[in-house]
Amino acid sequence: MIEIQDLKKSFGSNKVLDGISLKVEPGEVLALIGFSGCGKSTILKIVAGLIDADEGEIKLGSDKIGMAFQYSALFDSMTIAENISFPLRVEEGAPELPEFEIDRIVSEKLSLVGLPGINNWYPSELSGGMKKRVSFARAIVTDPEIILYDEPTAGLDPVASTIIEDLITSLQEETNAASILVTHQASTIKRACTKVAMVYGGLVVWEGTPDELFDENNDNSYATQFRRGAVEGPMLVKH
Ligand SMILES: Nc1ncnc2c1ncn2[C@@H]1O[C@H](COP(=O)(O)OP(=O)(O)OP(=O)(O)O)[C@@H](O)[C@H]1O
Ligand SMILES: [Mg+2]
Repeated sequence: MIEIQDLKKSFGSNKVLDGISLKVEPGEVLALIGFSGCGKSTILKIVAGLIDADEGEIKLGSDKIGMAFQYSALFDSMTIAENISFPLRVEEGAPELPEFEIDRIVSEKLSLVGLPGINNWYPSELSGGMKKRVSFARAIVTDPEIILYDEPTAGLDPVASTIIEDLITSLQEETNAASILVTHQASTIKRACTKVAMVYGGLVVWEGTPDELFDENNDNSYATQFRRGAVEGPMLVKH
């Protein structure tokens, strides 16, 4: 469970979050959508404990958190296997696993994301999309109960996107994790998410299901603007 109440965050004079409240139950995947710069990654980083909020409360049902970063954030000097196994080695309170067991888990996760056999490669040898999938494998390696995905399918080709979307869904079914997923991609919202929250002006301006968001008869002005990708609407585009 993830419960966020009245979260506020400014960077200097830039007020980014002005009272965000969200709730995600186990088994749910919340799509967090909104214009570039509206604060989606900031929300994930606060939930993950990487940055502090100015105000507000966050309740987490588990301290087993996995995060797939927007820009992959792999360690360049480590192999892919070392990157993916990193959370296993630093996990507090977890039993120390023998090397062969770590190798087995790493290979299993690499197969899962469609990249078997690249254990000994380095991040610089991978394409952007491959890095994204490795970052995904690292996020889920400890079987977390709370998973934060920052644009897990951005920049992936349609088939790789589908693989990741279906992986997110099967992972939810298996682990019953509570997840937040940032995306701009309609296919990802439809295939991988159970509900949607739209952020604008530091607030959640619309909440509903993927079906409601993409329903042509939904005349909510925010949902309509998102669905049509329209410049005109209640949300002003900053240049
Ligand atoms: N560490 C930081 N220091 C100063 N400003 C920051 C920092 N992190 C984010 N910001 C600012 O906060 C705002 C929100 O950034 P954030 O990365 O959360 O947006 P986003 O919704 O994830 O955008 P995108 O869709 O482009 O990834 C931006 O105006 C950004 O400049
Ligand atoms: Mg972002």
